[in-house]
Amino acid sequence: MAQITSGLRAVLSAPAVYDLFENLVGAARCRSVLVREFARPAGGERVLDVGCGTAAILAHLPDVDYCGYDISARYIDAARTRYGGRGRFVAALLTEASLADERPFDLVLAVGLLHHLDDDEVRQLLRLCRAALARHGRLVTLDPCFDHSQSAIARWIVAHDRGQNVRTLDAYRQLALEVFPDTRASLRNDLLRIPYTHAICECRG
Ligand SMILES: C[S@@+](CC[C@H](N)C(=O)[O-])C[C@H]1O[C@@H](n2cnc3c(N)ncnc32)[C@H](O)[C@@H]1O
Repeated sequence: MAQITSGLRAVLSAPAVYDLFENLVGAARCRSVLVREFARPAGGERVLDVGCGTAAILAHLPDVDYCGYDISARYIDAARTRYGGRGRFVAALLTEASLADERPFDLVLAVGLLHHLDDDEVRQLLRLCRAALARHGRLVTLDPCFDHSQSAIARWIVAHDRGQNVRTLDAYRQLALEVFPDTRASLRNDLLRIPYTHAICECRG
């Protein structure tokens, strides 16, 4: 079983395989709900998407001023190929230095990112997100989550995610609260076609 899950992780690094897998599990609906019910971007807003992957969220965003960062050059290349005219795509880690060249953002997204980072890396990333935001801006995060209410299958699936730091809803919330005193955390079991539990945090400074 360990060999199957590590093999799956390796093939998912190919953008086309990642997108196919996401389509099969119903990630498009998940992103649509995230945008409509949580991120609620208005047209023209400046949006920073950290860990943007292949930028699939763009299919669900209105006409915003979009900038996506990801450490995977392969994912960023795929994003440019599909959405080149709809935003800027940067193959790099987000840093203070990269933010120095950016105007403040109205919305920062971190979709499926925090569970790849350990607690100190999350704190550092959240501080960067806060620095990137305009005065009334907000950060929205979404990650797989452990919860006592989830089915054994959902628990097994999130436990075998590529990210090594899947947390409980409260653990995500507590980390966010260290940087964003106004944080609302929600648990959802209904966003994918497969049994799965998500934690969503809406954070304001
Ligand atoms: C689960 S994928 C989510 C991608 C995209 N947000 C989506 O919803 O399809 C996580 C992404 O985070 C990226 N990533 C991991 N660690 C990162 C870091 N420290 N900074 C930026 N991106 C990172 C990975 O390359 C990957 O594309």
